[in-house]
Amino acid sequence: MKCVLSGIQPSGQLHLGNYAGAIRQFVQMQHDHEMYIFVASYHALTSGRDADALRGNTRQVVIDYLAFGLEPSQTNLYLQQDVPEVTELAWILSCVCPKNLMDKATSYKDKVAQGLPASVGLYTYPILQASDILSVDPDLVPVGEDQRQHIEITRDLAQKFNHCYCQESDDVFRLPDAMIREEAGVLPGIDGRKMSKSYDNAIDPFMDEKPLRKRIMKIVTDTTPVEAPKDPQRCTIFQIFRALAGPDDTRTTDLANQYRAGGMGYSNAKQALFELIMDLFGEARRRRTELMTDPSYIEKVLRDGADAARAKVSQVTRRARDAVGL
Ligand code: ADP
Ligand code: TRP
Repeated sequence: MKCVLSGIQPSGQLHLGNYAGAIRQFVQMQHDHEMYIFVASYHALTSGRDADALRGNTRQVVIDYLAFGLEPSQTNLYLQQDVPEVTELAWILSCVCPKNLMDKATSYKDKVAQGLPASVGLYTYPILQASDILSVDPDLVPVGEDQRQHIEITRDLAQKFNHCYCQESDDVFRLPDAMIREEAGVLPGIDGRKMSKSYDNAIDPFMDEKPLRKRIMKIVTDTTPVEAPKDPQRCTIFQIFRALAGPDDTRTTDLANQYRAGGMGYSNAKQALFELIMDLFGEARRRRTELMTDPSYIEKVLRDGADAARAKVSQVTRRARDAVGL
């Protein structure tokens, strides 16, 4: 059975982009893969300094993962801080990481340009991510397109370490592959840019019905009049709809036909998107309300997940310690 690892930072409420780009794959893969899905709480320290917000977001991401359909019987779900061996491994990896590998990472520059503090933690973020990944020997890392470079850095670091310390026959680290669903692409937010917590343009499928509808009604469109035919491919509403329902779903093809025929206003398309979201996430919304009232269950899931992850991670860390002479 192939092994899968992925994680999401608890830096704010999850949104449809996280679902379409990442979580949907986790849920689909969990029945026939060995799964390690974690909350990247240490990574979130690079972007915020509000302790209560971090605690709250961390719990919320776990609840939302479960609400979206991750099953603890199929997926080891854990918090990064509950597997401290990962940070030890990050140090070991940092000692073989050429500085210029970090200089080349684009996410540091992007995040500093967005106003995040230029800390050493932010700069070496990809080393910690490599450690998260390599620590469970995964075959596949399902992520969104924006994480491609981080997986390449992970492979470079694994190779570099193996080259420095191992004979070919007993490599310490396996090289994982990124799994990026091209067709999911990058989901746009209500302003048409990439949907992201940091752009205040996200749609949270767990919002109360009324504010959710209002949010969807705010999606920016062009000024083509109601009667005129419209190009669905160039419309943010349609792009979100297609990503959620799937390109071949009849609801998607019907909506595309209405765009092309003319006579349909954008508010009708927004209403269709609202109904789709209520339909697709109805069950998740119900589950989430239940999970919110059961903190001891969440604690148990995280304890079991961390125990399972540590069993695997401690083997890998032991190999790395041996190889370097610790
Ligand atoms: P954000 O940009 O909101 O901070 P993250 O960087 O925490 O999101 O992303 C978590 C996961 O969700 C990553 O695998 C990322 O590739 C995916 N993801 C985030 N935003 C989108 C989007 N708009 N479209 C597709 N995937 C996304
Ligand atoms: N950097 C990822 C993001 O911002 C989160 C992350 C941290 C991650 N460690 C990981 C993703 C390991 C996949 C694997 O989305």
